Formats: sequence, structure tokens, C-alpha cells
Amino acid sequence: MNVVLKNIGKKYEGREEFTLRDINLEIEEKDFCVILGPSGCGKTTLLRMIAGLNSITEGDLLFNDRRVNKVASKDRDIAMVFQSYALYPHMTVYDNMAFSLSMRKERKKIIHDRVMEAAEVLQITDYLHSKPSDISGGQRQRVALGRAMVRKPSVFLMDEPLSNLDAKLREHMRVELVRLHQKLGTTSIYVTHDQTEAMTMATKIVLMNAGKIQQAGKPDEFYNKPANIFVAKFIGSPTMNIIEGTMKKGIFISDDELITVKPTPEDELLLKPFEGKKVSLGIRPERFESGGKFGDTFEATIDVVEMLGKEKILYARLENDKELVISTPGHYDYSPGEKHGFGFDIGAIHFFDSETEERIN
Ligand SMILES: Nc1ncnc2c1ncn2[C@@H]1O[C@H](COP(=O)(O)OP(=O)(O)O)[C@@H](O)[C@H]1O
Ligand SMILES: [Mg+2]
Repeated sequence: MNVVLKNIGKKYEGREEFTLRDINLEIEEKDFCVILGPSGCGKTTLLRMIAGLNSITEGDLLFNDRRVNKVASKDRDIAMVFQSYALYPHMTVYDNMAFSLSMRKERKKIIHDRVMEAAEVLQITDYLHSKPSDISGGQRQRVALGRAMVRKPSVFLMDEPLSNLDAKLREHMRVELVRLHQKLGTTSIYVTHDQTEAMTMATKIVLMNAGKIQQAGKPDEFYNKPANIFVAKFIGSPTMNIIEGTMKKGIFISDDELITVKPTPEDELLLKPFEGKKVSLGIRPERFESGGKFGDTFEATIDVVEMLGKEKILYARLENDKELVISTPGHYDYSPGEKHGFGFDIGAIHFFDSETEERIN
């Protein structure tokens, strides 16, 4: 099923401000759309509107071109998995999964087949007769998914379903969810504040801030072409370095005059209108070059070295104490207190208009 949002807005009763405004979005059949953003930006509100659990203040919500603003949640052919996926503690795993179909007075045979099919896919057939308290957190999470799956909805809605799990299990469930989606192909809308989940799972990411969409697109577009400084800093870990400066005769000069960069010819063209104006240079930690052979180098003193195995993260300082975060391969030798020359991979520089914070190149 495809899901289209046209100028959707939400104002909660008793609130002065709109919580969401001008939300325009197209989610295609079979998409795994991740709605991403910091806590409080309106993700749950949006998902609950799609689910029919929150009223829609303005705009149109379309399921396969049909307006469903006023259609009751139970008639929307959706299934939702919540962060707190409370299972019924006194029921077995089997009964938990069968529950919603039983409530709908579905035939016993169909219920059984659906539960067994979902259990098979989720690899929980061995626990069907256990109680939720006797299985692990990851298994309980799979039961919660199974409970939604047995209904064979046209759309899966998930609200931070992995946030109660520990890091290892979350990583594992991420891959399982991707596999499950590849197998079932059900249109899915998944809410999270975790950029790694978004980057790894989504076919489409929608990044929100303060009730507005900042950017929508494929994960690599977010990484390579962030639409503004907010997006640039939200995606990627460690965070992108931002250096404030001015364009002078086609050259970027940082405010502290410690860094000068001659942009690529393509970027130079796009920067022409910004001659004499404030621009912000963005460089991801993994796009520095070391060794002095890259022209525009500067010197920095290393403060802290974080050894993560495959990479070393250097927290380095310029003369004036400005901090830069640099990621290098784990087998490179760097120690705190050392001074080194670094340069930028010129083709990997992002330029933003300092005034609007919008992307230039
Ligand atoms: N039922 C409600 N009534 C009034 N305000 C609400 C209600 N639910 C959420 N909000 C407000 O809406 C904003 C967005 O909340 P929410 O959608 O839960 O954000 P997120 O899921 O991104 O953390 C918050 O400011 C929150 O306080
Ligand atoms: Mg939420």
C-alpha cells in the first residue's frame, strides 16, 4: 500500500502552537520508511496520526489514493508495534500472537496457520508454549512483531521498537527486521531517534526537527548531500566538523584565519554568489587527509585518542583551541600531545550558507 501525506498538520487541544506543520510525504509500496529526529520533534504524533490513534488537524492522509483521515484505526489495515510492547503475561507466546485474530473471531484453522507461519519466520516456534516471563528480551520483541504480523496488515507501523534492548541485541534485531522486510515486502513506517538505525534499515529516511521535515530521501543522500547544517550534524558519527568562515576571492578563509581552502572548480562556481559572505564549511571526521600532500594543510595538536579497533578518533585542537574531530584507520599511530599536519579531501567538503544554514554545493 502506498501512503501519502499532504500538508498534514497537528495541533493538540489546549496547545498554542502546532506540533506538526506542512508535512508532505510519499511512502511507496514496499518502502521501509524511517521517520528520524530528536526527542520531542513529533515523530510519535505523526505515526499515531497515520495509525488513526490521533486526530488530524489539517491536511490529507491517503492510503492508495483514498482519503482516510476519518477512517477508524481498526479499519485502516495497519498493525502497530510500540516501544513498550507489553505482552499479556498470563498468556503463552502462542496465545499472545493469536489474540487479535481471536478477538476478530477469525477461524481457528486460519489463526493457527498464521501464528505458525509468523513463528517460523521469526524463529520462535520453540517458545510458543512459554510465558513471556520465561523468554529473553529479544524473543519477547519478536513475539511483539509476530503479534503484528499475524494480521497481515498492508502497513506496519513501528515506534522505537528496539529502544528497550541492549546494544548487541539491537544490532541483531536491526538485521532481522531488514530480512523480515525483504521477505514480506510489507510497507513499513518506523520511528526512531537513532541515526544508525535509520541509515542501516531505511529505503527512505525522513528527518524531522521541531515539527518540520528537514530532508527526505535515501540514506546515502543524507550522508553525501545533507540539505542543511542540522541534517549534516544529525547524520554520521562522530559528528561532522563545521568551520565558520568567509569567501574571499574564491578562497574559503576561516574566521580565525587558521584554515584556508581552495574549493573544487565545481564548488567554486556554486560559491560565486557568496563572495564576501559568511559560509560554513563542513567536513566529516573520516574525510581528513594526513601527511601534508594535500595542499591546504593546517597543524593541530592531538588531545585525546579514542581507539575503536577499526578506527582511531582523534580529538585535535588548532592553535586557538578550536576542536576538530578526525577519524583515522585504527592501525595508524597517533598519541596525545603530538602535533600533526592535516588536510581535507577537497571533494568531500560541504558548504552551507551561514545565514540560512542551507546547503550550497
Ligand atoms: N497528547 C498530547 N497532548 C499535548 N501535547 C502532546 C501530546 N502528545 C505529545 N505532545 C507534544 O507534542 C510534541 C511532540 O511529541 P512526540 O510526538 O511524542 O515527539 P517524539 O515522538 O518525536 O519524541 C511534544 O512537545 C509533546 O509534548
Ligand atoms: Mg516518540
